[in-house]
Amino acid sequence: MEVVICPERSKATALTARLMADRIAADPGIVLGLATGRTMEEVYARVVEAGVDFSACTTFNLDEYVGLPPDDPRSYAAYMRKHLFDHVTIDPAHTHLPDGMSDDLKAAALIYERTIADAGGIDLQLLGIGVSGHIGFNEPLSALRSRTRDKILTPTTREQNAGMFGGDATAVPKRALTMGVGTILDSRELVLLACGTAKAQVVARAVEGPLTSRISASAIQLHRSCKVILDEEAAAALQDRDYYDFVCRNEEKWDPYRRYL
Ligand code: GLP
Repeated sequence: MEVVICPERSKATALTARLMADRIAADPGIVLGLATGRTMEEVYARVVEAGVDFSACTTFNLDEYVGLPPDDPRSYAAYMRKHLFDHVTIDPAHTHLPDGMSDDLKAAALIYERTIADAGGIDLQLLGIGVSGHIGFNEPLSALRSRTRDKILTPTTREQNAGMFGGDATAVPKRALTMGVGTILDSRELVLLACGTAKAQVVARAVEGPLTSRISASAIQLHRSCKVILDEEAAAALQDRDYYDFVCRNEEKWDPYRRYL
């Protein structure tokens, strides 16, 4: 794992957008794993601004609420259209989200896994982190080898995501269909982005804490190629910060990205 700490939120989101753009430029047919949430909005805005060409890309989103149709503005399908898909050249047939409207969620989950496998697996998976420690919607005690399935959301998560539901946590669906922790770990590269004070404790637990299903995001410690991009606020509770900065200063591969650091 590499931890990259940027002086401010705008630089952390710009760096994430730039890494994504660079991966697409290097491999236009890349299979992307996409995330939602407020943090990612800025990333997508920058990718759109940069005019990145998604025409040969395939995308798979991490998760979708159960019971919200894709045309519901609060669905993640709508989020993706609003923040990314409507503003870039991408074939809608190559964009995928789990089918939270299926009356057989187990079957929908299997189909999602199969579709990812048929596409050759995910090359680059973007991740945010929830205050419950989730990646995707893998709430505490999600098996570290779990695959796509439906999960009941924690009250904390429903609280955190209430913004899209008029501030009413009880209006947030109780369930979501989400890639599993194992599905996420199968991606060839992970980039986790977290910003802001509210994420500081959970980031420290994910990055430096014990590997535990209580904090699904700690599973990133198992991945061979994982970057964690933070702003100062989200990095505030890390204990080995000096070392992460030292690595970053000395790794030549970060040279093209110095202006974000
Ligand atoms: C939702 C998504 C997660 C994402 C999280 C972060 O819960 N299911 O994949 O990590 O939001 O949210 P935010 O960026 O709004 O803090």
